[in-house]
Amino acid sequence: MQFTCAPEDAAFSHAPLMALLCRMPKAELHVHVEGTLEPELIFALAERNGVKLPYASVDALRAAYAFTDLQSFLDVYYAGANVLLHEADFFDMAMAYFRRAAADNVVHAELFFDPQTHTERGVAFVTMINGLTRASQQAEQQWGITSGWILCFLRHRSEAAAFETLAQAEPFRALLLGVGLDSSEQGHPPEKFTRVFARCRALGLRCVAHAGEEGPPAYIAGALDALQAQRIDHGVRCLEDAALVARLVAQRVPLTVCPLSNLKLCVVPSLAAHPLPALLEAGLCVTLNSDDPAYFGGYINRNFTDTFTALPQLGAAHAYRLADNSFTASFAPPERQAAWRQRLDRLFAAA
Ligand code: HPA
Ligand code: ZN
Repeated sequence: MQFTCAPEDAAFSHAPLMALLCRMPKAELHVHVEGTLEPELIFALAERNGVKLPYASVDALRAAYAFTDLQSFLDVYYAGANVLLHEADFFDMAMAYFRRAAADNVVHAELFFDPQTHTERGVAFVTMINGLTRASQQAEQQWGITSGWILCFLRHRSEAAAFETLAQAEPFRALLLGVGLDSSEQGHPPEKFTRVFARCRALGLRCVAHAGEEGPPAYIAGALDALQAQRIDHGVRCLEDAALVARLVAQRVPLTVCPLSNLKLCVVPSLAAHPLPALLEAGLCVTLNSDDPAYFGGYINRNFTDTFTALPQLGAAHAYRLADNSFTASFAPPERQAAWRQRLDRLFAAA
């Protein structure tokens, strides 16, 4: 179904557009499962596991969620993940996400997890992957959501540490959708992991990478050239390099954009200043996602509604395109994508 911009969109007043954004089926392709740990669950798991937290209460922890940049967030985020010890903890965390995602009409999710954050505390790879994949199975039964797991290497750690993690993951290769690259971007270019990603590709793993969130456009080019990334996570800084934008459009490389994350980590000064309209206008395959919803003030629908509210030039045609892109950009089989697209078409035809 083709939607053109402006004229038809004027017919959508604010409330129906918000309802459409919430009701439309969508895939979420950029969400860190550790970033879905709500403060209440952090406290519950801390108590269950006898872990001492450096915060007196849920409110005190929430008060620490005032970030100035990516690193200030990562410090709090890694501290929160310390409560995860047993398979049941990973299962409960993932189930809480799937429950929220189902409420937001997410039909498919490709989630990141950070094994190094856990193995360095003595948690075995098998413990986390069993908890996460058991949650995937239950979520599909309970809510019909399909999902896959993307192992992220921490870019602030060494190449050798990434190889060690990959060796731990190899026996569970069949349970992994692919690999990604996250954590502190500045000073850790994609090229640091060229050889690890080559090995991942040889194992048949799909490759994605965070790039161009805080880092320069050269890191996006590096993720394409050195890592052969099939999607770029964030990528908003590509707009600083016209040739790079042309390349991303020509190669149909999707960008998994996370507006509330960009706002909370001061990548943009306000949602009204978010480059989403320019990214869409450039013809990029953009998707909207929540990144770390427990920390950034909202799950995927909140990202849609807050962003569309702040950017009134965006209307139903853009909503359709973003949902459609989320299916195209997913690693789901084409026939599944086509089925979701039919549901999307039916909803928009009735709107
Ligand atoms: N960027 C980089 N690393 C991360 C993020 C992010 O937004 N969230 C969790 N790890
Ligand atoms: Zn991210």
